[in-house]
Amino acid sequence: MKQNLITRLKNKEARVAVLGLGYVGLPLAVVFAKAGFTVTGIDPDQSKVDTICRGKSYILDVPAEQVARLVASGRLSATSDFSALRQADAVSICVPTPLRKTGDPDLSFIVDATDELAKYMHPGMVVVLESTTYPGTTREILLPKLGNENGLKVGENFFLAFSPERVDPGRQDWTTLNTPKVVGGITQACSEVAAAWYAAAIQTVVPVSSAEVAEMAKLLENTFRMINIGLVNEMALMCDRLGVDVWEVIDAAATKPFGFMKFTPGPGLGGHCIPIDPLYLSWKLRALNYTARFIELASEINTGMPRYVVGKVQDALNNQGKPLKGSQVLVLGAAYKPDIEDLRESPALDVIGLLEQKGARVVYHDPYVPRIHFDSGEGLSAEMFSVPNLMAAVKSADCVVIVTNHSSYDYGAILDSARLVVDTRNALGSKGRDNPKVTRL
Ligand SMILES: NC(=O)c1ccc[n+]([C@@H]2O[C@H](COP(=O)([O-])OP(=O)(O)OC[C@H]3O[C@@H](n4cnc5c(N)ncnc54)[C@H](O)[C@@H]3O)[C@@H](O)[C@H]2O)c1
Repeated sequence: MKQNLITRLKNKEARVAVLGLGYVGLPLAVVFAKAGFTVTGIDPDQSKVDTICRGKSYILDVPAEQVARLVASGRLSATSDFSALRQADAVSICVPTPLRKTGDPDLSFIVDATDELAKYMHPGMVVVLESTTYPGTTREILLPKLGNENGLKVGENFFLAFSPERVDPGRQDWTTLNTPKVVGGITQACSEVAAAWYAAAIQTVVPVSSAEVAEMAKLLENTFRMINIGLVNEMALMCDRLGVDVWEVIDAAATKPFGFMKFTPGPGLGGHCIPIDPLYLSWKLRALNYTARFIELASEINTGMPRYVVGKVQDALNNQGKPLKGSQVLVLGAAYKPDIEDLRESPALDVIGLLEQKGARVVYHDPYVPRIHFDSGEGLSAEMFSVPNLMAAVKSADCVVIVTNHSSYDYGAILDSARLVVDTRNALGSKGRDNPKVTRL
């Protein structure tokens, strides 16, 4: 059965299904379809399904023309009907793995998707989990539901693996197609089948010895980033106390050709990965009576950054004899990083919330985010809309806070027109240095 499936995967005869068509799932589905597989994307979000069926895209990295071409050729289709899994041979699961309000992992999307898949499992299938999660999830949660409860034997008549997605939204040089893909199976046979599938569509596949190694590798990558960002954020706090320019310090250190990797401070962590994934690891370790100290510390520093930024705004206004309460503050950039529209976990949301708590009159501008919907989760919600006229808003603000350094902004013009700027990203570069109306992180 293994060899037959590998042959069908190599020949692109196996039918592929991708569960979850978000930032990870849609690009992956497109990569499989472009490689020659017939792919069905399954997502309970009917608006996403309808958009794909119309040959359009809702993800900046996936051009609509590509979706249109693949849909028209019959290579790509989308549905919210999970019974499409009946025809699938190879299934990739790309559902969200957020945190609960308590900070604990929320595996409900993985469990729901696996329960749906379990109804349609049949011999000769390969299933790969892509969602970032704690080590052990594939074996402890997916395997019993997909295998034992269906009378299927893993590594013999069905194959199960974990392969972490490494997509970096907005990035052009490293994409789903050319970023090396780590694959680790529940058994050696599972690794072989999953690696054969992915190698039929993705340029470089890196097989590892188990699903747990693959799960943990992803957490090492993201924990590495989280901790280094925490370190450089603390550097910014320390440089501030010392009266030293942290940006110049970082640039100087980065001239070392070896043994140093440049990270930059900012208003806090954002996105669906870096602020969240390491907490999956620390949660798992807590259950084993181990405290993941670096993660906890970095998380504490990073989550404190929005408050620190608000303190900087308060100080900058204070130097002009103005209280934060009642002042008009323009937040520039709401997305969690430049040149994308993703608002998830964005520190801009915390900065806006904290400014409002202190009585500031807050407006924001973001060319990619026309509207922000705040939901407290307690029945309270509010909406904000990006100001229509950027430069008019810059001129009328008592303080402009650069939170996300989108490359489309004309920072020279913003600086010229603003009364006061707090630059959390060094977006103004040397223009912001030694400028009395600029406060830098
Ligand atoms: N966004 C990134 O940059 C990124 C990078 C690497 C890894 N990841 C990881 O990949 C996973 C997916 O992230 P994402 O950014 O694509 O999330 P997303 O929210 O953009 O997309 C997830 C999709 O899954 C759908 N979904 C929810 N429940 C489902 C179910 N039961 N069955 C099928 N579909 C379901 C949702 O409707 C949504 O369209 C997460 O674990 C995340 O940590 C994300």
